Parts: sequence; structure tokens; C-alpha cells
Amino acid sequence: MKNVIISPSILSADFANLERDIKLVENAGADWLHIDVMDGHFVPNITIGVPVVKSIKKVTNLPLDVHLMIENPEKYIEAFANAGADILTFHYEAVNNVESIVKMIKSAGIKAGMSIKPKTPAKAILQYLDIIDLLLVMTVEPGFGGQKFMDDCAQKIPLIKENAPENLIIQVDGGINAETARICTNYGANSLVAGNYIYKSGDISYAISSLRN
Ligand code: DX5
Ligand code: ZN
Repeated sequence: MKNVIISPSILSADFANLERDIKLVENAGADWLHIDVMDGHFVPNITIGVPVVKSIKKVTNLPLDVHLMIENPEKYIEAFANAGADILTFHYEAVNNVESIVKMIKSAGIKAGMSIKPKTPAKAILQYLDIIDLLLVMTVEPGFGGQKFMDDCAQKIPLIKENAPENLIIQVDGGINAETARICTNYGANSLVAGNYIYKSGDISYAISSLRN
């Protein structure tokens, strides 16, 4: 069994039965819970915000892996940290000053993640790998679940891995299933986000264990 962090995305859960659907992945062995925050500006979709994260925190022991697909993320760091985020991931393309936002997240006492969209090359962010805890490589255009995995995005991982400190978490998100998970872990990813594959599989335990192996 590989040492990979599985983070199911609740974007594919039933929002009217969110607690039930969170328990399902928690009981099936998920490591983290991936929460997609979208603002209708950075991406063309709107999902959930601070109050929902706060409520989720009350019903799960899983670390909350919060993926901010929003403009001006610096305005919301404190609020998400107070709501219970354990890892807060912003988009490189949404900020002017990476160092200052990383500092803000770390001062809130939580892990700092940074994400890159498909068109952002790995070489643009190599200089930041030493200051972040997690680098999220998007393997679809952010905004929606259920899209097709883009292999050319995952091909950024080897260069990132080569330049990363030993303890950097390299996460992938978008179109992850048992087959694309293997491609990504072979490239060097050690954290997998999956929404549709887990929640629409019909067998959540099997889906999670198939990502791990
Ligand atoms: C997409 C989100 C993903 C999404 C993944 O913008 O960041 O976390 O939920 O969904 P799947 O696994 O269905 O591609
Ligand atoms: Zn996500």
C-alpha cells in the first residue's frame, strides 16, 4: 500500500445530505475531506463558503482540505481558518504576492497550499516550493466536477518533484480514478482528490481503496 493521502471532494456529494455523505467517506477510510470553494469570478461556478465549512467541522474528524477557487483569497484566510480549515489552498493565478499570502495562512496556524491551473507551467512556481506545504496540480480546468483528466497537466509533476523539498505534498485534482491515480502517483503525486469517481461509484470503500493501490 502506497503512502498516499486520499481527499474525497464533496462537490460530488448530495448537499441536502452532506453529513451522511461525509460520514460515508470517513468510514470508508478517507484521509482528508476536500472542500471546493468557488466564487463565480475566478471560476464560472459558485459553490460553498465559510458557514458551510464551519458546519462541516462539527460533524467530522477528517482534516478539512479547503481549495479556494476565488479571487482575492487574502480577504478570506482568517475566516476559513477560524471556520476549521486545516489546509488552505489558494490559486497562484489569483494572487500578486505569493509570499505574503503563504505567510498569512501559516500565521493562522494551518497548512498552506498553492494550486496551478492547467495552463500555468511548473517552472513558474518552482521558486515557491520551499515555502508551501502543498502544491496542487489541477488536472482539469477548475470549476466543475466530472471532467476528463488531462495527462499533460500531470506531466508537470516530475519537474515539481525534482525541485521540491522531501516533505512537500504534491496533490492532483480533476478526473482522478483508479487508472489516472496510478499515472499521477507514478509521476510523483502523493495526494489524490476525487469527487465523481468516489461518490458516483456505487461502492465508496472500493473506490477509495482502489485509489490507494
Ligand atoms: C474542480 C474541483 C475538484 C472536483 C473534482 O474544479 O477542484 O475538486 O470536485 O471532481 P472530479 O474528481 O469529479 O473530477
Ligand atoms: Zn478541488
